[in-house]
Amino acid sequence: MPKLTLLNDKSVHEFTPGAIPYGGHGKPGSILDLAMHFGLPLDHVCGGNCSCTTCHVHVEAGMENLSEPEQDELDFVGMVEGGTDASRLGCQAIVRGDVSIRIP
Ligand code: FES
Repeated sequence: MPKLTLLNDKSVHEFTPGAIPYGGHGKPGSILDLAMHFGLPLDHVCGGNCSCTTCHVHVEAGMENLSEPEQDELDFVGMVEGGTDASRLGCQAIVRGDVSIRIP
């Protein structure tokens, strides 16, 4: 069963892809969608519509287990202060396997 790990508090959250009811936060199955389901403190000022950068996370492991970023996500990630090659928008990155993130 895939795991979403939040490195800030070392909490580990197992889930079955597609089995968690969609909560209306970002793309279904996204980091943000899972974070809201598990009660993790990930901001999302625009409501998960890829029009802010408050859901920015650093992916420290499992980047290959996320959906490929689309151009609109890349445009916003490019504006993130402190962004790196490991930066993704939580509302856009769909989780398909084990992923470890840190909320900056
Ligand atoms: S919540 Fe605004 S871009 Fe993700």
